Amino acid sequence: MKAIETHHLSRKFGEQTALSCLDIEVDAGEIIALLGPNGAGKTTTIRLLNGILAPDEGTARVLGLDPSTQGSLVRARTGVLTEHAGLDDRLTTRENLQLTAGLRAMDAQIVPSRIEELLEQFGIADLADLLTDGFSTGQRKRVALARALLDDPEVLFLDEPTSGLDPAATREVTDLIAKLAAERGRTIVLCTHVLAEAERLPARIVVLEHGAVLADGYLDTLTSQLFVDLSVTIEVASATDAAIALGTAQSLRSVRRAEITGNTLRLRVAERDAMPDVLASLIRDGVDVYESRIEVPGLEQVYFEILRRSALSGVQLEIDPENTGPRPLVGIKP
Ligand SMILES: Nc1ncnc2c1ncn2[C@@H]1O[C@H](COP(=O)(O)OP(=O)(O)OP(=O)(O)O)[C@@H](O)[C@H]1O
Ligand SMILES: [Mg+2]
Repeated sequence: MKAIETHHLSRKFGEQTALSCLDIEVDAGEIIALLGPNGAGKTTTIRLLNGILAPDEGTARVLGLDPSTQGSLVRARTGVLTEHAGLDDRLTTRENLQLTAGLRAMDAQIVPSRIEELLEQFGIADLADLLTDGFSTGQRKRVALARALLDDPEVLFLDEPTSGLDPAATREVTDLIAKLAAERGRTIVLCTHVLAEAERLPARIVVLEHGAVLADGYLDTLTSQLFVDLSVTIEVASATDAAIALGTAQSLRSVRRAEITGNTLRLRVAERDAMPDVLASLIRDGVDVYESRIEVPGLEQVYFEILRRSALSGVQLEIDPENTGPRPLVGIKP
């Protein structure tokens, strides 16, 4: 059984399409990073999966349950961190956690030690007995994260878990997400704008825009499908060497594009296997090569390339997470 499965899941607000025909299957232990511009439909997706919002069309299953009719059962087995932390500010940190433990019918025996553990883990032990009312954005986020993890749910929905956190706390939360998936097999659906953190996770990337999926796949698959040629930077001894190198590179079939700036030669090369020949040819022509490196595009480049293609073509680029090659381009539904 898939941890999450949706079929044509759709939701509008008036005329505004928030999510359009989402078809997704998520295995247990997978981390899904929902990326996309403001208003893309990320939070709507989480709210639909959590049964807080009902779909107009389509279906969803979370742990085999239908969130639109079995919302409370879904919420009992999942944890959610909403965009706005939503703490009860008349209560202290500890009381907020105790309240949630009660609502989730946790075993009263283990609650105190579990709360202590999470207070330590999120660096909020010194805030335990203070009213959350005066807390900073990051402090509230820490309490809300502790609350989402309280009974170690099977599926976690985390809507921008690191927004408002300082860099060290951001890193800790990212590491914790990776650990929950890898060591405890927890399934995590994460909305984030922090591409650097998403990149540190072994996450499947789903890019949404105007409620439609533009791309779905792991970073290496997306990278190889979006950037067919490799970018190579070669540092040579002098500008004279660079000029010779340019001539050599342009004569090679595997080199699709070549340009120089100062002592640097930048190439677009068809494949990695062509590199030994490229370098041997440069050396044969008397070029002193100091350094050669393949520039691997990061998530940020991949993300902007996906959005750029969408803007250019008005079509979805659907990429197969199993890496069985690109599927046909599908037109965005009106
Ligand atoms: N309760 C609502 N009432 C009206 N419109 C809504 C509501 N919730 C979402 N929308 C609209 O649906 C679209 C998707 O919103 P959603 O909150 O899912 O975006 P998002 O990807 O989470 O954006 P952000 O990155 O800003 O959090 C937006 O156009 C938004 O205005
Ligand atoms: Mg959102």
